[in-house]
Amino acid sequence: MAIALKKRDFLLIGVAIAILAFLWQAPPESTSRVPLDDNHRQFHDLVKSEGKKAAEKFCEECHNKDDIPFPEGHPAKYRCLFCHKLGTP
Ligand code: HEC
Ligand code: HEC
Repeated sequence: MAIALKKRDFLLIGVAIAILAFLWQAPPESTSRVPLDDNHRQFHDLVKSEGKKAAEKFCEECHNKDDIPFPEGHPAKYRCLFCHKLGTP
């Protein structure tokens, strides 16, 4: 019985580590940043004043398949700023 419980504890720890590892590597450091240019300056301000979620609503006004298409194989598009950090490295 004691041994069975221990096994489950290790399993839970393993799952926790797997989730942490996944979250840790989710935004790759090489992901291009949101430039500080005339197209994006307003969003740098908006993120500061109202947060990322408020700014992300506008990204797809330009970044969509007709205007500025995403590169091939681009990951799921919600939460742009989770992966694309603001500004230059
Ligand atoms: C007014 C139109 C417009 C809006 C709105 C817009 N972008 Fe852009 N974005 C551009 C254009 C044009 C480029 C390509 C030229 C450049 O680098 O500015 C670009 C390029 C980028 C790049 C690539 C930069 C690089 O290094 O090549 C990223 C990342 C990006 N945008 C993210 C975002 C995010 C995130 C948002 C929402 C917060 C957003 N953009 C909103 C027009 C826009
Ligand atoms: C899960 C992470 C993730 C999310 C969410 C995400 N992207 Fe990306 N994006 C990437 C990766 C990875 C690349 C390819 C590597 C690179 O160029 O940064 C990329 C590439 C791009 C590029 C081309 C950059 C270049 O240099 O040519 C643009 C523009 C862009 N993303 C905009 C957006 C916008 C706008 C959103 C939200 C609607 C968004 N991304 C959401 C990860 C993400």
